[in-house]
Amino acid sequence: MNPENDYRQYAPATQRNRDPIFDVLVTVLPDKGNILEIASGTGEHSVYFAPKLKNHQWIPSEPDAIRRQSIESWQQFCPSPNLLNVQNINVLNSDWNEPLKDLEITAIVNINMIHISPWEAYLRLIEGAKKLLSSGRILYLYGPYKRDKKHTSPSNETFDQSLRAQNKSWGVRDLEDVIEIAEKQGFKLVKTVAMPANNLSVVFQKI
Ligand SMILES: C[S@@+](CC[C@H](N)C(=O)[O-])C[C@H]1O[C@@H](n2cnc3c(N)ncnc32)[C@H](O)[C@@H]1O
Repeated sequence: MNPENDYRQYAPATQRNRDPIFDVLVTVLPDKGNILEIASGTGEHSVYFAPKLKNHQWIPSEPDAIRRQSIESWQQFCPSPNLLNVQNINVLNSDWNEPLKDLEITAIVNINMIHISPWEAYLRLIEGAKKLLSSGRILYLYGPYKRDKKHTSPSNETFDQSLRAQNKSWGVRDLEDVIEIAEKQGFKLVKTVAMPANNLSVVFQKI
């Protein structure tokens, strides 16, 4: 590819967290189906996961145009037949799920978003997930969480402060609040898995 058309962006954390995330994903994903990734960011996760999940189709999505360009570039450099075109999805739009309603989505994956967006983004994410996922389907969340309103590490507390300084509506969420909202929308918690760097995998299943 002509380097002038290389719009790939790099988020170094993806190199560190992709294998631990993948190890959890394979334990909870169905055998096959369409996996929708919300907030794909640079696209590095999508090009890493898709070739490893050959029975699945991976659908990246991202509301930011520059990042969508990065995702497309990553796809051009690392093509995978089961990696579909990036969708322009902003979960703050209450009908974000509408364009996907004819696809049978078997899992939704959302990595490092709900603390870097307003709480409403999580509420709308869950509402749309409820509409898209049928019984037994999976919603996977990854990121830092507070437990019982307390930070689980000094580094998460510092991170939380830096997020809130950037945007008052951002911040590390309480795991209990996240679970409560999901349960109200018809999901049950399958498991949480402690991840490197004081992060958590949080896995829900639609009842
Ligand atoms: C820290 S990045 C994480 C990106 C990627 N998942 C990763 O782990 O590298 C947060 C991402 O959330 C996306 N995002 C923020 N608000 C969103 C919203 N309302 N709907 C969908 N994505 C959103 C941002 O555009 C950004 O790409």
